[in-house]
Amino acid sequence: MAILNVYTFPDPVLKQTAKTIATFDEELQKLADNMLDTMYGFNGIGLAANQVGILKRLVVIDIYSGEEDISKREPHIFVNPAIVEKKGEVISEEGCLSVVEFNAEVKRSESLTLEYQDFIGELHQIQADGLLAICLQHELDHLDGILFIDHLSPLKQKIIKKKLTKQAKKSA
Ligand code: NI
Repeated sequence: MAILNVYTFPDPVLKQTAKTIATFDEELQKLADNMLDTMYGFNGIGLAANQVGILKRLVVIDIYSGEEDISKREPHIFVNPAIVEKKGEVISEEGCLSVVEFNAEVKRSESLTLEYQDFIGELHQIQADGLLAICLQHELDHLDGILFIDHLSPLKQKIIKKKLTKQAKKSA
């Protein structure tokens, strides 16, 4: 397993739409394992393939990523995930491994039903609420080239994107 490079704003790969996965092979499992490693390595609770430069509809999530006791971890792998039902509204603070040192409040659906495939291609459906539901919406956005900062007001977006672009130029 390996820790992969995480692309950050304004890298163009983050604005692209990921493609549906049709091949369920060892390579897919290896990518999912490496993405989990990368997520834990950077103390994230979710990671989409776009963020490691791969345009495939693959997401990994573990809302217990920060637990000191590793036995409490709950890694999830979602292939071709799709939200089929949404309910309610909730506002919470979000951050992202691809948006360096910036958090902001984002409005999301409170609960949802998700359809997805596992790494052998079997279809599943789950209900999610709380942090898992928020995280799923954030990660699925990545697959469509959307970042959480794209949900802010146009003025806030302008300010933060300018700042992030400046920072990225400095560290390049
Ligand atoms: Ni993110």
